[in-house]
Amino acid sequence: MGACGAVSLTIRVNGQSHEIASDPDTPLIYVLRDELKLKGAKLGCGLEQCGACAVLVDGKAVLSCVTAVEAFDGQDITTVEGISAEETGRRVQAAFVEASAAQCGYCTAGLVVAATALLTETPDPDRETILAALTPHLCRCGSHPRVVKAVQRAAGS
Ligand code: FES
Ligand code: FES
Repeated sequence: MGACGAVSLTIRVNGQSHEIASDPDTPLIYVLRDELKLKGAKLGCGLEQCGACAVLVDGKAVLSCVTAVEAFDGQDITTVEGISAEETGRRVQAAFVEASAAQCGYCTAGLVVAATALLTETPDPDRETILAALTPHLCRCGSHPRVVKAVQRAAGS
């Protein structure tokens, strides 16, 4: 542990390992945005209430605003910047563009992450399943109907 309480951690983001020195209690989003300069995940509420900060961890959507970076030591994190490396993420991203599923875009990275996690686990979800997966994600621009269409398009339904 360093003088300011920083510890050395290794996090793997978008296929790349990063050695970081951080207070272990720092929420992951600050490390992603401030240290690794990955600005895709957004800080919205900071309270697990909006979904803007979602990233994929081992294929599951995780809210990076509340979970301490220490919990991700040695884990595989994918942010929206790296999501097109896999076929499902690529399809979701393309479908969001084709369905014009963003307005200001503040919520979009979180929704793309959530949709990718959903389709990875459930490749052909029905509408209720899509709505349930997206419910934790707020969009103040009201783009949810288009987001649902984008997810259906990505699923091929
Ligand atoms: S910023 Fe993480 S849920 Fe809102
Ligand atoms: S597109 Fe603006 S908050 Fe969702």
